[in-house]
Amino acid sequence: EKGGWSSFMAKEISEEPEAVANTVLGRVDDGQVVLRELADVDDMLKDIDRIVVIGCGTAAYSGMLGKYAIEKWARVPVEVELSHEFRYREPVLNARTLVISISQSGETMDTLMAVKYAIANGARTLSICNTQGATIARESDAVVYTHAGPEVAVASTKAFVAQITALYLFGLHLARVRGTLDPTVAALQLAELQGIPAKIAKVLKNGAEITQLAKWMSDSRAVLFLGRHVGYPVALEGALKLKELAYIHAEGFAAGELKHGPIALIEPGQPVFVVVPSPRDPNSLHAKVVSNIQEIRARGARILAIAEEGDVAVLPFADEVIRIPLAAPLFEPLLTVIPLQLFAMELATAKGLDVDQPRNLAKSVTVE
Ligand code: F6R
Repeated sequence: EKGGWSSFMAKEISEEPEAVANTVLGRVDDGQVVLRELADVDDMLKDIDRIVVIGCGTAAYSGMLGKYAIEKWARVPVEVELSHEFRYREPVLNARTLVISISQSGETMDTLMAVKYAIANGARTLSICNTQGATIARESDAVVYTHAGPEVAVASTKAFVAQITALYLFGLHLARVRGTLDPTVAALQLAELQGIPAKIAKVLKNGAEITQLAKWMSDSRAVLFLGRHVGYPVALEGALKLKELAYIHAEGFAAGELKHGPIALIEPGQPVFVVVPSPRDPNSLHAKVVSNIQEIRARGARILAIAEEGDVAVLPFADEVIRIPLAAPLFEPLLTVIPLQLFAMELATAKGLDVDQPRNLAKSVTVE
């Protein structure tokens, strides 16, 4: 039950710290990630030469984040594809391809059909599911469960952060099995992940300012979301939440793509959420995103920056700054997505909509 919350969605967002913590729980041994459920497939994991991650909607966006972590730590090439696009284009598969399917429900027909296709065509399969014993989990060679607890609201929130957590744990496990990451570095990444629940709790405390933002935007016709590197899937997810819940046209873009087209959309007053990378980012992506902000600001955009505490570079250009605690770059999405989830929920609420049951949508999509 809702336990005092105004909606299941509000309750489930409040449970995000535990969703991450419970997904890590019991999977750490002596400072290293050990996924015991993969013991039978560890030899296969040493042997694969390519990973294809599949999923739909929010699950596909968590998969995009998994790519950044798995490639960085385990040095195996990773592709990410929507299940339904993967299934019908005769993808190249063999026994050295690992297909990782991601599904909260574990029953999504598009993803199930893609898993069955992968098996029939000789690939290895692993699933990341939130529902024990789900069909997709049963079909796969191995399963890593997310422990987000039951997700009732149609829009996925706590399952998303749990999926990212599971993918990162898998990335660290794979790196250990394949010997690609210095154990000291791996231990630092794990410690970073273990520190995330407390940081999410901190982001949740700032919920009130987001409610205010949502109020003034309730008659916006379109909202844009920009992000770069791991901020890009977050931008896509922020836009998806807003479409689903508030029925507002929303679109996420890779910030680097702006000048290749989307900047033409900017007109005075256009609200744009920008997920700003940390100024400590080793690739200096921060400066690039700040310059994107300046470009769209000069064309009249109204900027809502999601930026790290202490990042003062955004202040002269942003209309609103939502602060997130410091985290290592790969882990920032676990924090930056929270204000976007809250924003979509609050905006839908401000419009008088049912946030748990958006129109035309079902929690589990069991038809192709
Ligand atoms: C977004 C949402 C959908 C699901 C998608 C996959 O809020 O709920 O995009 O993420 O339908 O569902 P699962 O993870 O159950 O396969």
